[in-house]
Amino acid sequence: MHRMIIEGGRELSGEVRISGSKNSAVALVPAAVLCDEEVTIANVPNISDIKALEEILNYLGAKVEKQKDIIKIDSSKIENKLIPEKISKKLRASYYFMGALLSRFKKVEMYFPGGCSIGARPINLHLKGFEAMGAKVTENDNLFTITADNLKGAKINLDFASVGATINIMLAAVKANGTTVISNAAKEPHIVNVATFLNNMGAKISGAGTSEIKIIGVKHLHSCFHEVVPDYIETGTYMILASAIGKDMTITNIIPDHVESLISKLEEMGVPMQIGIDFIRISAPQKLKQTNIKTQVYPGFPTDLQQPIAALLTQASGKSIINETIWENRFLNLLELNKMGATTETLTNSKAVIIGPSKLKGKKVKATDLRAGASLVIAGLIAEGKTIIENADYILRGYENIIEKLTNVGAKISLEEIE
Ligand code: EPU
Repeated sequence: MHRMIIEGGRELSGEVRISGSKNSAVALVPAAVLCDEEVTIANVPNISDIKALEEILNYLGAKVEKQKDIIKIDSSKIENKLIPEKISKKLRASYYFMGALLSRFKKVEMYFPGGCSIGARPINLHLKGFEAMGAKVTENDNLFTITADNLKGAKINLDFASVGATINIMLAAVKANGTTVISNAAKEPHIVNVATFLNNMGAKISGAGTSEIKIIGVKHLHSCFHEVVPDYIETGTYMILASAIGKDMTITNIIPDHVESLISKLEEMGVPMQIGIDFIRISAPQKLKQTNIKTQVYPGFPTDLQQPIAALLTQASGKSIINETIWENRFLNLLELNKMGATTETLTNSKAVIIGPSKLKGKKVKATDLRAGASLVIAGLIAEGKTIIENADYILRGYENIIEKLTNVGAKISLEEIE
């Protein structure tokens, strides 16, 4: 267990280099078991969610070699064993082993995945997709058994453009007999990154990044080299921070197109930005203007940046309204921001209001999930005095080297291990 200690109120300047995308890497690593040869994935972030996936790979008997940001996975000798709850529950993305193992072995047994408590988080759309392809799904006390004598291509229309269901169905369909078409598919950058990885191994996937993805099943996948796309949520988190207390802060190794919805919100708020091919330079303005946020699937405003931007909105003049349309329980950070001096109110599960600007003061607060933690890091860096963030392990699930990256731009921040 860790807590984070921040001495806030300091201007930040210099470069922050963005790491590989968490939500892409957590799909690419399980996808590697589809291949019975060694695959190499580069730009893998060093975060605890990846360590949890490595634990599952090791448990299944894969050979995993890691050197800096490069991970080599050889799944040629894996055994298709039941994945126990104590390892599946460490992260949400363990559910990608469902699609990957089903595709390779036509059978998978695992417990329901864990993850941050930001809503009910059902997986009915994933299962509906597997069933449409001829799989039989049974659930007993949270243990899912999915089998298929003949996994066959199918037409699958998703009721909601779910990221997880789109990727999981893609994984299952890669080696199925015939063609699968996913309509109303998710379009997030990590969907494209996963499809490219699978195609690099010899899969036949087209349309990733649009709402219709076509997968023609193949018999064999081969060894390949692949790179994780830059993390647009990490990018956005540092852009938000720079908009509050940055002076010439440059966020590098990014794809600006992926954060277009955030760029337009920050422009509305009056943040001056210089946007390059793979970097954005930001200085905080004297005065921030209010704005309203509505979270949507990509390319709309990402739910994963809703909590981080809430911290910035406490510094904006006027009343900002947040409408969270993806998750039912994503305002717990607001209670903590109020402890620090913010004026926020949660009106319903999906609507909250923030009135600013407020002078934030360092306090003892608690991270309730990953992005709530990011929200508190931003607030703690803005605030005068000392902030202690309990449950900081949530933050380490998704932000690589956050202490080093922030220290390099002038923050006073440290991590303390507690019992
Ligand atoms: N949904 C269903 N049924 C399903 C799947 C989803 O009803 O079978 C609903 C969910 O309840 C939710 C909505 O659809 O209301 C969106 O869920 P989605 O499946 O898109 O989310 P996810 O795959 O579980 C991923 C990220 C989340 C991110 C969302 C939305 C991973 C491991 N997680 O979750 O990331 O918020 O997409 O972009 O990729 C985070 O990084 O902090 C995080 C929570």
